[in-house]
Amino acid sequence: MAKKTVRDLQVKGKRVIVRVDFNVPIKDGVVKDENRIVQALPTINYLVEHGARIILLSHLGKVDHKDPSKTDADKAKNNMAPVAAKLAGHLKTKVSFVAQTRGADLEKAVADLKDGEIVVIQNTRYEKGEEKNDPELSKYWASLGELFVTDAFGSVHRAHASTVGIAQLLPSALGFLVEKEVLMLSKAIVNPEKPFVAILGGAKVSDKIKVIENLLKIADKVIIGGGMAYTFLKAQGKEIGTSLLEVDKVDMAKDFLTHHGKKLVLPVDFTVAAAFAEDADHYVVDADHIPANYMGLDIGPKSIKLFEKELQGAKTVVWNGPMGVFEMKPYAIGTIAICKAMSELPGAYTVIGGGDSAAAAIENGFEDGFSHISTGGGASLEFMEGNPLPGIAVIQEK
Ligand code: 3PG
Repeated sequence: MAKKTVRDLQVKGKRVIVRVDFNVPIKDGVVKDENRIVQALPTINYLVEHGARIILLSHLGKVDHKDPSKTDADKAKNNMAPVAAKLAGHLKTKVSFVAQTRGADLEKAVADLKDGEIVVIQNTRYEKGEEKNDPELSKYWASLGELFVTDAFGSVHRAHASTVGIAQLLPSALGFLVEKEVLMLSKAIVNPEKPFVAILGGAKVSDKIKVIENLLKIADKVIIGGGMAYTFLKAQGKEIGTSLLEVDKVDMAKDFLTHHGKKLVLPVDFTVAAAFAEDADHYVVDADHIPANYMGLDIGPKSIKLFEKELQGAKTVVWNGPMGVFEMKPYAIGTIAICKAMSELPGAYTVIGGGDSAAAAIENGFEDGFSHISTGGGASLEFMEGNPLPGIAVIQEK
């Protein structure tokens, strides 16, 4: 059975609650990357064109409700107003922002909506009950609308009031972004054309254990880079200096190496630095020669060559997690090289599983070089783990 999509709903004149993921980076009140907003436009435009009255919900950042001394500052930092303004710039219809998550002003704004108009509500995480999937909150939000559409792919791994709670109470459907993400990620993870090479990076093995396990089952090669490579090196008995290490994951890394040694590809050299700083003394060493007082912050040129060789001939490539500390220029070389190598692979289906690697590819101008760049970080990771995603599972079947 397939999930309903927005095309299956009769939306004319109806109040449609749309959960989007507008959790975008903001600095000094300015949206720094509007990709997630742009990616939600097809669903929003469809609803506008079909005369829906649209109520948009999203979270933004984190709001600490446990420590009351932090709550107000978190709220101020994560105000949805600049995001609503950014969205309005992409649309011709009226877009109102209500700086509340409940109450008379919100209810009036919703009641005043005309066909094709939009109300954006304040950050859903202003509500303590959001992350707890509080039934009272879900019921209140559901009472504002008649239909529910999820287009928040980046949040479908969260069972929160705005992602799952409302969906349990209203007729529901997937938006075009979630539909596209599932299709594109499934093509790589569920039904990959072989040879299939996965590239995993990022800081911690602990974040990626289930992904490594799942990909080892389905991929022909799993390339490991980034901070988590050093735990694997340690498992091989190598000196890793002051590089990132998860001591409690060394045995697990040993286990992976023992059972899947031929599939796993580790870096053979690194850029090591005297400190975690852009201007620290740094140079390239082979994997066997990391000095005791240096830390690995990027893969080296031999590793790049090795990884490029492993990628040759691949028909499917999935990448999640940078190869080094790409925010600092001297340690971005490995990550950029992987972007370049993947984007130049002839005839391969290439997917970036969101998060930092997606940001790195977009920032470095490789946006058009991939078959798909996911808007979900945690969500695409959980998809790659083979887990059901609660925000999709809850949506009605056709
Ligand atoms: C993301 O940026 O990955 C999503 O918006 C989810 O955010 P969260 O990890 O704060 O739930």
